[in-house]
Amino acid sequence: MEKYLAGKHIVLGITGGIAAYKSAMLLRLMIKAGAEVQVVMTPSAKEFITPVTLSALSGKPVVSEFFTANSGEWHSHVDLGLWADAMVIAPATACTIGKMANGVADNMLVTTYLSSKARVFVAPAMDLDMMAHPSTVENLRRLRSYGNIIIEPAEGELASHLIGKGRMEEPENILKVLEDYFRRQVSPSPLTGKKVLVTAGPTREKIDPVRYISNYSTGKMAYAISDELASRGADVTVVSGPVSVNASEPSVEVIGVESGREMAAACEARFRDADIAVMCAAVADYTVENPSEVKLKREGNLPPEIKLVKNPDIARMLGEMKAPGQMLVGFALETDNEADNALDKMERKNLDMIVLNSLRDKGAGFATDTNKVTVFTRGNAVAEEFPLKSKREVAADLADIIERRFG
Ligand code: C5P
Repeated sequence: MEKYLAGKHIVLGITGGIAAYKSAMLLRLMIKAGAEVQVVMTPSAKEFITPVTLSALSGKPVVSEFFTANSGEWHSHVDLGLWADAMVIAPATACTIGKMANGVADNMLVTTYLSSKARVFVAPAMDLDMMAHPSTVENLRRLRSYGNIIIEPAEGELASHLIGKGRMEEPENILKVLEDYFRRQVSPSPLTGKKVLVTAGPTREKIDPVRYISNYSTGKMAYAISDELASRGADVTVVSGPVSVNASEPSVEVIGVESGREMAAACEARFRDADIAVMCAAVADYTVENPSEVKLKREGNLPPEIKLVKNPDIARMLGEMKAPGQMLVGFALETDNEADNALDKMERKNLDMIVLNSLRDKGAGFATDTNKVTVFTRGNAVAEEFPLKSKREVAADLADIIERRFG
């Protein structure tokens, strides 16, 4: 790996959580990668790890108070904030996250955070209930919306290790995020500024005012893709059926729709301006021809007849509209004859790339946090097959392939 951290100035903020012991490892990795690191601890962090260990590893005295007690030397948070190329807070307790979200600058760490012009990375660590509390959820949302990057273990990884949400991300992975950030500074993603349209979730086809036809799609894959592309600088709009997931990246614009026809209209209006469209929605194949204006009654001898008519095939419609230079990506969820069906869909819908997931693979498909995909790209005879991964990691693989086309 190239040393993108070499010579970088990093402020490592450590707060008082059990995971503080892992910060020593993180610090060692940063130093090994060539970074210059200044450790700033909250007072309670010292209950978990000694400043002596950290100053030995970083080669610098650890900063914790505004003054050095015996000499009265003043530590300038402003200077530190300006010196930093990046600030990493790991572990970040619920308390520090709350203070950061609200500007409560009662210690050296939060004060440095407020003075810093550099990108800030936050690796939360706390118990499950604290992590799930609406206060924490809201504080993290706010930190994200201020442009900070929250580093958490991928959900798929959590599921497979049966470890609760709230565990601090492993030091190796935090380092990877940093390497990636500094790599992007040197060579920005070719997706920077590209306009991307993503369809997400199921659609609901109304039968009457209280009933509808739908499917099991949750939108998780589509939102993971949207977040990944947005994190690479793309300008992402998601046209989304009803889902309970949210975008993590604050720049992602979400347009909520309900039926397949509404989704088609929203996509048609936006596709001309798009550089890339990713068709991830599970659009109902059929809609109800004449939904009832009033609730259908149970009484009567015969069950009501519901006449179904075809919904627009959005991917196909965009495939027909597609101009040179636009890239159209589709998904194929298959149960049999997978590769042939996927290739056939790519052809029929005039797609440039199709992502196959098979319902036969364990951990792939609806409602899971993981997926296993095979990707076919136009003009390439050989498919790329990936192992089972978290949906965010799958999204990164797909973004890498999309990038190649624009690189
Ligand atoms: O033909 P099939 O529905 O299996 O094709 C799947 C691909 O087509 C997906 O990318 C899906 O989002 C897209 N699609 C669509 N509109 C439909 C049906 C499927 O955009 N009505």
